[in-house]
Amino acid sequence: MECKLVYAPLEQVDADAVAVVLFEDGDGIPAAKIWLDELKSSGEFSAKSGETAVLHLPQGLKAKRLVVVGGGKKDKFDAAALRRSAGSLTRALKQKGVKRLALMLGGGSVEAAVEGAILGNYEPDMNKPSTDAKPLEAFHVVAAAKTAELEQALQRGVILAEAQNFSRDLGNEPANRMTPTVMAKQAQEMAAAYGLDIEVLDRDRMQQLGMGSLLGVAQGSDEPPVLIVLRYQPAGGAKSKDHLALIGKGVTFDSGGISIKPAEGMEKMKYDMCGAAAVIGAMRAIAQLKPPVTVTGFVPSVENMLNGRAQRPGDIVKSLSGKTIEVLNTDAEGRLILNDAITYAKKLGCTHLVDAATLTGAIVVALGFVNTGAFTNNDALLGRVMAAGKEEGEKMWHMPLDDDYKDLLKSTFADLANIGGRWGGAISAAWFLKEFAEDTPWVHLDIAGTAYLDDAKPHLAKGPTGVCVRTFAKLAQSWS
Ligand code: BES
Ligand code: ZN
Ligand code: ZN
Repeated sequence: MECKLVYAPLEQVDADAVAVVLFEDGDGIPAAKIWLDELKSSGEFSAKSGETAVLHLPQGLKAKRLVVVGGGKKDKFDAAALRRSAGSLTRALKQKGVKRLALMLGGGSVEAAVEGAILGNYEPDMNKPSTDAKPLEAFHVVAAAKTAELEQALQRGVILAEAQNFSRDLGNEPANRMTPTVMAKQAQEMAAAYGLDIEVLDRDRMQQLGMGSLLGVAQGSDEPPVLIVLRYQPAGGAKSKDHLALIGKGVTFDSGGISIKPAEGMEKMKYDMCGAAAVIGAMRAIAQLKPPVTVTGFVPSVENMLNGRAQRPGDIVKSLSGKTIEVLNTDAEGRLILNDAITYAKKLGCTHLVDAATLTGAIVVALGFVNTGAFTNNDALLGRVMAAGKEEGEKMWHMPLDDDYKDLLKSTFADLANIGGRWGGAISAAWFLKEFAEDTPWVHLDIAGTAYLDDAKPHLAKGPTGVCVRTFAKLAQSWS
């Protein structure tokens, strides 16, 4: 989709449809007043967030349609609301055969508007030969002025949203087409296209290093595991003082292993690599945005299956950290692959660790599908992550991680058990990872409830959301 900044009065905007935002409590764009007053007084349009109304051949306008988008309450219309409105608008209009859409922005965020449109234009079947998707061809932002600053904001929005859609593409692939090997290949192609260094550690290499925890999960599948390492270096080639690690859970299918999952809904476990997809997508955006900090992406990727070699409940594995783990439940595999990646990141000199993982059903019980669960051993780093998330409209909720929860992971036979019992499951999972992060500043994002949508939203298609791509990229950009 062509995205462009234009500067024109409403009457002269050249598009199949030109959109204006109207608020529940106040006027929208003054130039559109005659149409809007009529629409409002008709009672057919309440201006609630996400609502749209289409007026055909409005007199005096060059565009064929005037579209009114509900913005909800004016004082609540922030960048996140604008992003959603632009998404809803795009999704509503592409169904109606509109190809070229313009949005009158006034003073709103150009970046958020273009992000919303690109994300809303995305359909999971866009690459299928028999697709029904009818995406928009052009999205024009009609801004209050045409400045270099706004042009840059538009470019940032394009980079971020396209990286997020790339992440959604990875997440959408079924597990037979998205094995660890395929994920490594996709990461390699991305790295080559965007100028990142990449290294893919195979099973032998991981064995040499001593990643017994990750390999224990992998041994139940015929698909070989990988650990993908993507490297970004700021201009000049010198490492910055801080070194940020982004770590993503890449379980390409989670059957549960010997502790097998129930059949119902198991198909959704193809999404168990959405943390990995977020890291790969974020690294793509970072390669383009060129933040001032060294960033390395770590993607441990395995398939959690149950062949005759599969690990059994009760097995004890030795992690790269040296800590031994009693595997009481083979379905708690995310933490088993992540701990080795966390230790490896520390060994490579990373000073700040942020991971994203579809780690627990328990976080979905706690927070539903709205907030990502955020855990940390360092409030300052969490503050930076949450600030980036707020800027990008990706909601996070700070979850507790007090010492009182630590005992949940006690094992008679090893240093740690890999599960902590029924209650507080998201917290014991996070505590498990904390045992490996140790004193290195670390944030864990449990995205099990936010990584994919079971049903489409007005502004977003069903399937992977690409959550954390923009937050991660913004986090790196905000580094100073
Ligand atoms: N991949 C799942 C978590 C998950 C659940 C993601 C629902 C998305 C939606 C994870 O590997 C898992 O199975 N966790 C178990 C842990 C339990 C065995 C301690 C869970 O949450 O039930
Ligand atoms: Zn599992
Ligand atoms: Zn899993």
